[in-house]
Amino acid sequence: MCGIVAYLGKKEAFPIILKGLKRLEYRGYDSAGIALIDGNDLNVYKCAGKVSNLEAFTEGKNINGHNGIGHTRWATHGPPNDVNAHPHVSMDGSLALIHNGIIENYDALKKELIKQGYVFKSDTDTEVLVNLVEHISKKENVWYGEALRLALFHVVGAYAIVATSKNHPNQMVAARKSSPLVIGIGADGDFYLASDATPIVEYTKQVVYLEDEEIAVLKLGEKLKIYNIADQEKTPYFQQLEVELEALEKGGYEHFMLKEIHEQPRSIHDCFRGRLNAAEGWVSLGGIKDYEQKMIQANRLILIACGTSWHAGLVGEYLIEDLARINVEVEYASEFRYRNPILSENDVVIAISQSGETADTMAALELAKSKGATILGICNVVGSSISRITDAGSYTHAGPEIGVASTKAFTAQVTVLILMALSLAKQKGTIPEASFRNLLAELEAIPEKVKQVLATNDKIEKIAREYKDATNALYLGRGSSFPVALEGALKLKEISYIHAEGYPAAEMKHGPIALIDENMPIFVIATQGNSYEKVVSNIQEVKARKGKVIAIVTEGDIQVREMADHVIEIPETNEYLVPLLATIPFQLLSYHIAVMRNCNVDQPRNLAKSVTVE
Ligand code: F6R
Repeated sequence: MCGIVAYLGKKEAFPIILKGLKRLEYRGYDSAGIALIDGNDLNVYKCAGKVSNLEAFTEGKNINGHNGIGHTRWATHGPPNDVNAHPHVSMDGSLALIHNGIIENYDALKKELIKQGYVFKSDTDTEVLVNLVEHISKKENVWYGEALRLALFHVVGAYAIVATSKNHPNQMVAARKSSPLVIGIGADGDFYLASDATPIVEYTKQVVYLEDEEIAVLKLGEKLKIYNIADQEKTPYFQQLEVELEALEKGGYEHFMLKEIHEQPRSIHDCFRGRLNAAEGWVSLGGIKDYEQKMIQANRLILIACGTSWHAGLVGEYLIEDLARINVEVEYASEFRYRNPILSENDVVIAISQSGETADTMAALELAKSKGATILGICNVVGSSISRITDAGSYTHAGPEIGVASTKAFTAQVTVLILMALSLAKQKGTIPEASFRNLLAELEAIPEKVKQVLATNDKIEKIAREYKDATNALYLGRGSSFPVALEGALKLKEISYIHAEGYPAAEMKHGPIALIDENMPIFVIATQGNSYEKVVSNIQEVKARKGKVIAIVTEGDIQVREMADHVIEIPETNEYLVPLLATIPFQLLSYHIAVMRNCNVDQPRNLAKSVTVE
């Protein structure tokens, strides 16, 4: 939530920061702003709306400075207007600060500062923070970097902060707790700071991820210095970024979401590459290998996640329980963390998160850790907070996902969970060798089959045109296709703003059936498998009420074709792997409907890619 970019070096800061903000805009797009130190001046440019508004607002202006901070906002405190946009400047005009996170005790701090004579212009917690730093700096007669460190003792909440001062034009200070911050060091010693590596990668691949309660002090011409909150100096841990610049661009597609949908043959392949061999009959998730016996012997595996990642967890539950016969529970991280869950060292908690930064998932993990459970992660973003606090984990290797609606990350998460289920089942001896090998071979064939599903795009676009004006939609599935129905409904509602619900097909008659009439599209996963006949009966129930049925079926299906209004065929595969194929028509359908409704596909309203607040 909110994107931070800053630059201190010998180049002009403004274009670097503006470009960086565009790359980070998926984190929030309510308002944007940049502050620059130019000689003895601190100049701030900010406005409501997207980064493009800021670009238009600054066009033709003579903007200079080698020391600058920028921000794209997802509003928490106060509406998204010009005044609440970051950066915020302290009352005496010397300091500017950007912030991602939430200062929970901002109201108490603000009242105290008002008593000291401070006057506030905005509704934000960030303006409280910048004035607190100024106040401490004056009261203790210390430079603003030291004042920031002291201020953090008074702050309750989450933050990634970058501050700059016109009194120290060659310096910059940053700090973090629970919100991410990466510092890149250019070959020429320039500093690039950002919420994630995407704005940095085109300048340098050498980065340091700031840890919780660390403060970075950047001075032009000097080496990066990092301190803990107790002011003890720490040795920076440098890492090499692996992401390539092309992965952050649209590559000829109209939207990132469409590009990411089409990347799935590759991203699924990258996810299992080197982790299985059907011919030799092995599967291995290196990252969690040492924890597999613990997982097999655990009381239960608890998968925690939010949104789409939670849906992937539900698929995982079906697979791990069925194949490896291990008790699995799937929990919303936000509920789990506040439920006082019963946990012990015999539980294994696995967080699933594309960003690796989701605040609720992080907090749930921290709780599980404090109760002695083993904590593992399935993350996409390398070096993310979750990947760093977990005991071990497996990356999904889907590459950067920029579209706010998750697509390729979901199929990669499901792929890791399939590998996990297979590996555990193999070691536990709960899967016959022939089935094991067959599943591995089928998984290896999935990328080609995904390509075949993508080739049905034109047909899906036609179906989209027919239902683009629907006001409600129902998605039905059974078994491991039930989470696919949930995910299909989420994709439709989040990017096209059509109300949609996902249900286990058999549950339809316990309530949702009342909604069905001739205007209601019902998307059903009716592929061959154990519950095929039952789903066929559910389709008949829908047709009896004149609902419109759009069914995803296995290639060559005849029975459903005769009943449904439309069918979308997917290639035959092992039933366990159907979620990897069946989800793709739903992604494309939502995409086309959203485009036809003129919705902002990559940046749906009110959403942000990385939810680092509760
Ligand atoms: C939906 C979507 C969200 C995320 C959720 C969790 O398309 O993207 O529902 O899945 O916010 O995010 P991560 O996986 O980053 O923890």
